[in-house]
Amino acid sequence: MRNPSPSGSTSASAQSSVSSLLDVYPLLDLTLEKGLGAVVTDAQGQEYLDFYGGHAVISIGHQHPHWIERLTRQMKQLSFYSNSVHLPIQEEFARKLTNVARKEKFRLFLCNSGAEANENAMKLASFHTGRSEVLAFKGGFHGRTSLAVAVTDNPAIQAPINSTDIVHRLPINETLALRPFFEKYGEQLACAIVEGIQGVGGIIEADDSFLKELRELCDQYRVLLIADSVQCGYGRSGHFFAHDQSGISADIYTMAKGMGNGFPVAGILCSPAVRVEKGQLGTTFGGNPLACAAGLAVLEVMESEQLLQNAVERGAQLLDGLSKISFVEKLRGRGLMIGFDTPSVEPAVRMRLLKEHRILTGFSKPNVIRLLPPLAITEQEVDQFLNACHQIANGL
Ligand SMILES: Cc1ncc(COP(=O)(O)O)c(C=O)c1O
Repeated sequence: MRNPSPSGSTSASAQSSVSSLLDVYPLLDLTLEKGLGAVVTDAQGQEYLDFYGGHAVISIGHQHPHWIERLTRQMKQLSFYSNSVHLPIQEEFARKLTNVARKEKFRLFLCNSGAEANENAMKLASFHTGRSEVLAFKGGFHGRTSLAVAVTDNPAIQAPINSTDIVHRLPINETLALRPFFEKYGEQLACAIVEGIQGVGGIIEADDSFLKELRELCDQYRVLLIADSVQCGYGRSGHFFAHDQSGISADIYTMAKGMGNGFPVAGILCSPAVRVEKGQLGTTFGGNPLACAAGLAVLEVMESEQLLQNAVERGAQLLDGLSKISFVEKLRGRGLMIGFDTPSVEPAVRMRLLKEHRILTGFSKPNVIRLLPPLAITEQEVDQFLNACHQIANGL
């Protein structure tokens, strides 16, 4: 067995001296071959409980039979054609999504990744307003492509080519800082971009009062509000969009991760107020029939299995159980997007969950454990996770 590094990861080059892959990911010491529901199985046939969901991607559960059936049926019919023809399944997907998200008047543009969704949203905001500056927030993560990485609060992943002076950054939840900022820069802004719950930033919820004030100022200064829902959206918080809890409506919602349950699907939902002209956006693969079939299967299962309700109930069960565990500090989040600090033993707790209890979890630097299980996680699986935490706490 390979030796994990102190942070619990091993580099790709350490795994194989003959890897032909670019060595860009810190990897867990784990080789997965199968998945079913909330369980994944390694190369030796060992099962692991998945409280990470492949980074919030697995929404309805690994290898859901309806998802397989929908994709297989579409695969036999038409796998791909470009956006130069009518593809009725795109219309079907857009109707279903706007209905389930309760955004019936919004329109959908489909693309392939969260970063691409944010790029398109910001580009559209710039076309719409004729302006070029963006307000983003500390701790925000919006992707790794050019403007998406520029608005992301992490200099370590910004190359010199990404440097720009069009991005302003304010602290998240400092409501009082918003108005003076808008008074100074509001007329220059094309958009403000904000996650309802920061994911990579360590599960930081945007306060209701903060989001309401931001909405009001965006209206006042004719700035488009972009709700980055790539990680916190699609039912993960118990609402369809995490921002819904605040009672605000954004001008553009960006979506990705949970949309396809692992099939690459992303998109933006635009309010009717956003002006869009032919040719302003486009993509080769976005909205291909297989992506739409995967997206439809996810929404159908979300409805038939009432997964938003399950996210609320299992989230409450997790928050209640975790509040009694000694190593859990600053417990936060809602639905199935939960985080907590660990006293400095983060790699230890996370690695003990993995090695001793075979439970996969996520993390954020420096010491945050992130829980992002499938929305279909069961009461028994949550109990299994909580029992493992109790055992670890008793041994600390
Ligand atoms: C909030 C948020 N926005 C955007 C992205 C980028 O998505 P992708 O990796 O699909 O480009 C992520 C990815 O983690 C994210 O968490």
